[in-house]
Amino acid sequence: MISSKEKNTTIATAAVHAGERDFDQYGSHINPIYQTSTFVFRDVDAGAKAFQGEEDGASHIYSRLGNPTVEKLERAIAELEAYGLPDQNAYTGMAFGSGMAAITTGIIAAARGGHIIAQDALYGCTSQFLDLEVPELGMSRSFVDVSDLFLLEMELKKNPGTKLVYIESIANPTMTVADLPNIAAMAHQHGALLMVDNTFATPYHMQPLKHGADIIAHSTTKYLGGHGSVIGGALVLKSELIEETSLHKFRKNLGGIAAPMDAWLLSNGVKTLPLRMQKHAENGLKVAQFLEMHPAVDQVWYPGLKSHPQYDLANEIMTNGFGGVLSFELKGGFEAGKSLMNSVKLCTLAVSLGTVDTLIQHPASMTHSVMDPELRLEAGITDGMVRLAVGIEDAEDIIHDLEQALEG
Ligand SMILES: Cc1ncc(COP(=O)(O)O)c(C=O)c1O
Repeated sequence: MISSKEKNTTIATAAVHAGERDFDQYGSHINPIYQTSTFVFRDVDAGAKAFQGEEDGASHIYSRLGNPTVEKLERAIAELEAYGLPDQNAYTGMAFGSGMAAITTGIIAAARGGHIIAQDALYGCTSQFLDLEVPELGMSRSFVDVSDLFLLEMELKKNPGTKLVYIESIANPTMTVADLPNIAAMAHQHGALLMVDNTFATPYHMQPLKHGADIIAHSTTKYLGGHGSVIGGALVLKSELIEETSLHKFRKNLGGIAAPMDAWLLSNGVKTLPLRMQKHAENGLKVAQFLEMHPAVDQVWYPGLKSHPQYDLANEIMTNGFGGVLSFELKGGFEAGKSLMNSVKLCTLAVSLGTVDTLIQHPASMTHSVMDPELRLEAGITDGMVRLAVGIEDAEDIIHDLEQALEG
């Protein structure tokens, strides 16, 4: 079977073959579904050795600890996030039952007992976990606008011994693009790890590991799955960091591993990621340009627009375009946004993103309603902001739908 690691391929080719490194006993072409909770031991010694982690023990024990279907997905995601890195083999993927399971397990393992500096604008549940639950778990946290490197430096100085800096490569829903090389350098200078949620960008548009990030998090529910049929999450990090942070132990005991059927669906999604992202990005730019020119629209946030505050940075660190998500605010504020969301016919009023169809939603009352309202406003998530996850339909059809809804 072709291994993307052995060949000098593009990321599109790597995605098609990612994870498919070995034959199973029947030579299955596609990742087989090992829909089993437990695994049979040849004899007592093999079972005991497996529990001791000895190499000649049984290869699998119990699916909460590891499962062959899940491992293929883990290899695929790690190969894409570490694509092109000289030490690609040093990275390992870990699949979880949701993006939040990946994020919370990663944060607990990497920052336990210490301080976390987090970006002010983050996905609502991540923000809520950091704001309310992290202090109750014996960790401390502070929030900062990481687009201002001076503020980040001040926060790191104010909190010596900070264990973790937590950011999103493209923030949900403000679309702030993180200055990864400088943020990583700054975190490391102060002895902290950098954890980056790369859900919006995906490895097709951004590879934070290349810019110095230590831990990558994903809601695989979104673009990696691609079809809105699975809730899932993943982490990618150096194998030695998994050891240092005891991440396997935390995933085993917190119990958040992905299920085999979900991992199988996600493995299929990963194969078409570059193909889909190309169309999401092409459509994203066209729709962003249409909205920016529309008289009813006050502001559009999309990294591919010259008006975006980090347009130059986005061009430096993003590849193959700028993804499919954008946010905008109408001149008529929340009421105009509400009327638009109630008037679309092709676009679907639903939270989430990364599905093949276009989804529209209102962050302040939906995905980010769990955030502290003050923190939400300070982070730039206004009450009138509308988020659009542009799908892979024909761009003209999406634009036509928005046009009729804006008139209505
Ligand atoms: C950027 C980002 N990270 C994490 C999550 C959480 O992922 P999940 O819903 O798969 O738990 C989301 C969900 O919308 C998200 O948008």
